[in-house]
Amino acid sequence: MISHDILVIGGGLAGLTAALTADPKLSVAVISKVHPLRSHSVAAQGGINAALGNNPEGRDDSWEKHAFDTIKGSDYLADQDTAELMCEKAIPALYELEHLGVPFSRFPGAVIAQRPFGGAGFPRTCYAADRTGLVILHTLFEQSMRRQVRFYNELLVTRLVVRQGQCQGVVVCDLTTGEMIPVKARAVIFATGGYGRVYFKTTNAFINHGSGIGIAYRAGVALKDMEFVQFHPTSMIGKNILITEGARGEGGYLVNNKEQRFLADYAPKAMELAPRDIVARAIQTEIDKGNGFNDDYVHLDLRHLGEKKIKKRLPGIREICLNFGGFDPIEKPIPIQPAQHYSMGGIDVDVNCTTSVEGFFAAGECACVSVHGANRLGGNSLLDTVVFGKIAGDQATKFVRGGGNPSSSDRHLEEETIKIKEKIDTWSRRDSGIKIHLMMEKLKLAMSEKVGVFRKKEDLTEGLKIILGLKEDYGHTYLSGKNIKYSQEIVNIFEFEMMLDLAEVIIRGALNREETRGSHFRLDFKERNDKDWLKHTLVVNTENKPEISYKDVNISKYKPVERTY
Ligand code: FUM
Repeated sequence: MISHDILVIGGGLAGLTAALTADPKLSVAVISKVHPLRSHSVAAQGGINAALGNNPEGRDDSWEKHAFDTIKGSDYLADQDTAELMCEKAIPALYELEHLGVPFSRFPGAVIAQRPFGGAGFPRTCYAADRTGLVILHTLFEQSMRRQVRFYNELLVTRLVVRQGQCQGVVVCDLTTGEMIPVKARAVIFATGGYGRVYFKTTNAFINHGSGIGIAYRAGVALKDMEFVQFHPTSMIGKNILITEGARGEGGYLVNNKEQRFLADYAPKAMELAPRDIVARAIQTEIDKGNGFNDDYVHLDLRHLGEKKIKKRLPGIREICLNFGGFDPIEKPIPIQPAQHYSMGGIDVDVNCTTSVEGFFAAGECACVSVHGANRLGGNSLLDTVVFGKIAGDQATKFVRGGGNPSSSDRHLEEETIKIKEKIDTWSRRDSGIKIHLMMEKLKLAMSEKVGVFRKKEDLTEGLKIILGLKEDYGHTYLSGKNIKYSQEIVNIFEFEMMLDLAEVIIRGALNREETRGSHFRLDFKERNDKDWLKHTLVVNTENKPEISYKDVNISKYKPVERTY
């Protein structure tokens, strides 16, 4: 049986940071369902926030101001102590990345360049042109190679094995063979990313089914604030490819079919650099009012930035437009619309990335430590991965050094593995049933149409009905292809079960929360209601039923006030 002291699940930025932080004298391994360089972190474009004060217009910046912007941006749902910790640690974290070799863009004098981003009082987003996630991921992967971190690629985690409140390891499916394998560990860190592909329109990679979050939920760990789903304002129509907020940070305009910069009506001071929830709603409102193009999109216009700036600061965006849109943004505006982008909610963890299960930690987008609250600021997600990835690596090390979970009997892990094998056999034995890809499509459409930028009771109720119907249908699914080697159908059939849970948890949280806060906009409850709803949602899977409860938000320095931009 494969056995390690610390097992990190996920090879993106949070996972690699955790693995690099964990004590190298322990046996540390990373399991990833793809090659780590294909992790979704690679797609992060615009940058990572830290109050370095390198931009001449940001000299007065400080981590405290960064923390305030983050808390205000979160619509006061972020835990304030945790947001402060992240913003304070941002500065050393950035210099550490620089020392590891991340090739950030530079200002004259060779300091790390910083650009303005939405909801930020100062230009504090550090970047590498528009390929920031890619260069950080490559650098951390190189460092992992140098330090001989053990990688297992193309293994899909199917179960978190917990016994008497203690984490014992995981069961994985080797995607190259279809074989089920038990993996024992004294501590497990999930850094499995978000669930964007639960939506039809998303900027996320095809791998982002969110199964890590769902697996934790099935193992009895609470999920927190799952109704808060971020819609990025600017995805290119068609495939919904991300067009970075950095494009607006560099001065891009959003324009409707009347040639108006309509943000003047929604966020007159911040304009295109208001936080994402506000800009996404403004765009959707313009489209719904008939001020869009083809009732479907508005324009992101970069032409006035000029060829030189576009080629230097936004080369990846230009490539996307050329390759996927067949036009050059130097000459034509980009047709954009909002699309799901990020999950503010996730596995409930505390500031040490610990969960309610001993020896089980989580970091990055799959986790909700609650620094983003109801709406994340652009540039804070890469920051979250490196700050909390490091904390998770440290805490898992401490846990194992302090004795870790007692070595489990192999028998329990093996029994769990057999149960999963039996599941595959059942699907495989059936010759007919409901095809998994059809159910997936139905779920995604329901989420995009009923649980989107604007929500209301009737839509959410209908969405829930569709999901509950699909839960029944799932019992009748089958493997149409009998070859289980490199089978995408196997991946889908495993992950769909978790997608159903996540969709249900998101909708139930959204239905209950009868207020508007950050990304959660209820057309039937348009005001924020601090008296009743300044609280986190927790959902626990109890006997296969979601049980909802609430807990207080940590409010320290910043009294919630109206959020204007
Ligand atoms: O727009 C972007 O470049 C995305 C950044 C982020 O999600 O933080």
